[in-house]
Amino acid sequence: MQIITLGNELLRQKAEKIDKIDDEILSASKQMLEILKTDKGVGVAGPQVGLMKRIFVIHIEGDEDRVFINPSILETSQETIKYEEGCLSVPGIYTDVVRSESVKIQAWNEKGKPFTLETGGLLARVIQHEYDHLEGVIFLDRVSEEKRKKLMAKYEKTGGKGEKDSK
Ligand code: NI
Repeated sequence: MQIITLGNELLRQKAEKIDKIDDEILSASKQMLEILKTDKGVGVAGPQVGLMKRIFVIHIEGDEDRVFINPSILETSQETIKYEEGCLSVPGIYTDVVRSESVKIQAWNEKGKPFTLETGGLLARVIQHEYDHLEGVIFLDRVSEEKRKKLMAKYEKTGGKGEKDSK
C-alpha cells in the first residue's frame, strides 16, 4: 500500500460501498493506520491508497485508532470554523478550510460493529476531510477558485514532492 498523490485520477472517483467486513478489510485498515503513523498524518481514506472502497482511518495523537467503514454523516453543525489543513495526497500544500464545527456520523468499525459518534474539534474536521475523499473531493475544492489556482501552481512547481516546512 502506498499513498497516491494529486494528479492520479483515482482521487477523483467515488469509492464503493463495502459489502462484507472481512479479514481483507481488517488487514487494509491496519495497513492504513501504519501508513498514517509512518507519514505522520491524522487520517487516510481508501482512495488515497488506491483502494476504491468506503473506508477511512483516523489517528489523532492522544486518541485511539479509529476506523470508519461505510460511513454516513447524519448531521453537521451550522456553526463553522476555519482551520489549516493539509493532505497526504497533496504534499507540501496547506490552507485554511471552512468546515462544520461538529458532526454526527454513523459507520462500522473494522470488526463489523456499527457505531454512532457525535464529535467536534479536530476529529470532526478530519472526519469531514476523509469523508470527502470517498466522494472524490479534496480539500482544495473547498477554497476559493483564486486560492486554489495559486496553491495548484505551487503544487505543480514543487512537482508534488512537497516541502514539509513550507506553509
Ligand atoms: Ni486528505
